[in-house]
Amino acid sequence: MLHSVKELLDKGPIGKEVAVNGWVRSFRSNRFIALNDGSTIGNIQCVVDFEQFNESLLKQINTGAALNVSGVLVESQGKGQSVEIQVKKLVVLGEADAESYPIQPKKHSLEFLREKAHLRVRTNTFAAVMRVRSALSFAVHQYFQKNGFYYFHAPIITGSDAEGAGEMFRVTTLDEKNPPLTDNGEVNYKEDFFGKETNLTVSGQLEAEAYAMGLGKVYTFGPTFRAENSNTSRHLAEFWMIEPEMAFYDLDANMDLAEDFIKAVIAYVLENCTEDLQFLEKRLLDEEKSKPLAERSEMALLDKLRFIVDNDFKRVTYTEAIAILRNSKPNKKGKFQYRIDEWGADLQSEHERFLVEKHFKCPVILFDYPAKIKAFYMRLNEDEKTVRAMDVLFPGIGEIVGGSQREERLDVLLEKMKALNIDEKELWWYLDLRKFGTAVHSGFGLGFERLVQFATGMGNIRDVIPFPRTPQNAEF
Ligand code: 4AD
Ligand code: MG
Repeated sequence: MLHSVKELLDKGPIGKEVAVNGWVRSFRSNRFIALNDGSTIGNIQCVVDFEQFNESLLKQINTGAALNVSGVLVESQGKGQSVEIQVKKLVVLGEADAESYPIQPKKHSLEFLREKAHLRVRTNTFAAVMRVRSALSFAVHQYFQKNGFYYFHAPIITGSDAEGAGEMFRVTTLDEKNPPLTDNGEVNYKEDFFGKETNLTVSGQLEAEAYAMGLGKVYTFGPTFRAENSNTSRHLAEFWMIEPEMAFYDLDANMDLAEDFIKAVIAYVLENCTEDLQFLEKRLLDEEKSKPLAERSEMALLDKLRFIVDNDFKRVTYTEAIAILRNSKPNKKGKFQYRIDEWGADLQSEHERFLVEKHFKCPVILFDYPAKIKAFYMRLNEDEKTVRAMDVLFPGIGEIVGGSQREERLDVLLEKMKALNIDEKELWWYLDLRKFGTAVHSGFGLGFERLVQFATGMGNIRDVIPFPRTPQNAEF
């Protein structure tokens, strides 16, 4: 009977005839094939009696080849595995050329593997990361579905700039060499496919707000696009975002939800991805051996994840955070790249990480930011200087969640848009939501890849999404 490697390793029928498909990870001494099919981190050892097989067949069993193996499952004599297959029949389904197959049974750097993004999932590290990614996705849906949220599909192509940052990818079918022009010589988007300028969405929030004002609680989970030219270990041009949006939630309820949600999905992978996480923890320890002591993490991966689940996030206002940062050692000694002098300064990742990793030593939710440094839709506080914004900051990551209570008052919103030169006509439908049954509401966006980074301990965001899109890179 055909089994997956996972089934064989977990509770395979000892003494019975079994069959399995997979790819060769290694072939030692013309006798031991380590076979993996992606179902689990472990390999099934297939023991070949080479006298029973002809040499030309054995020559085809190179690393990377696809095989169908059948034989009897027995308890293993050797160390390192509990069961193994005594091979009776061997079919090479697809050969892999030993000279040119890049994923050999040795250590490859993550940079090297990024260039082989189509094959890297055949390594333990990437297979483990992608299994954890899959489990986290499931946990996200499970959490919201269990808590009364509806899954809302936000459009990918939009005519509005939700974040007001203007870092968007244009969607057009106009002839790039010879576009139609208006009388004053500008490109005439009236003649474009949608009859207006359109872009790939940077966030599904504005549309989610419309649906929250009818379905009550919704969440998006889909790709979002940002044309920011930031080549960092935490930015992608195409990333997946989860955006819950809730009618009748104020900022406190929003923060409670964000904290509970993150804890729940991390608890899910702790429970369901133990082997993969143990492997990734070991990988991280190995990687960190080459780093100076000060740069190594204080906790191993699993402890770090348990710490998140078991401890309250610290809630701090922006104003308090600025006071802490201003008086901090690195600020006084000029160690920050961006010195914090005044209230109103935008926080950089170095400041966020100082607060989380050095000062509070736990996840932090910063809230009530200056209106000037946040998006137009956030609700203005009584002080008329700050808005009901919140960012969740994580160790090693910095900002993992950005959210807010939304401005539900039509007059205040209109004034804000005017001040920021946002065209009322473009967002007429968004303003309608404030005219017809407006209500307090809130939501947030969680960058899914940053969550996967945190859960797997991977340092670079390019290594937690199958085929990363970054500036100058869309090869696969
Ligand atoms: O803080 P951001 O820009 O917030 C929004 O887009 C809101 N509309 C969300 C909402 O309230 N519904 O983005 C939210 C999160 C960030 O905290 C970060 O985790 C992630 O999205 N993110 C990115 N992840 C990877 N690559 C990028 N270029 C990212 N930009 C933002
Ligand atoms: Mg943000």
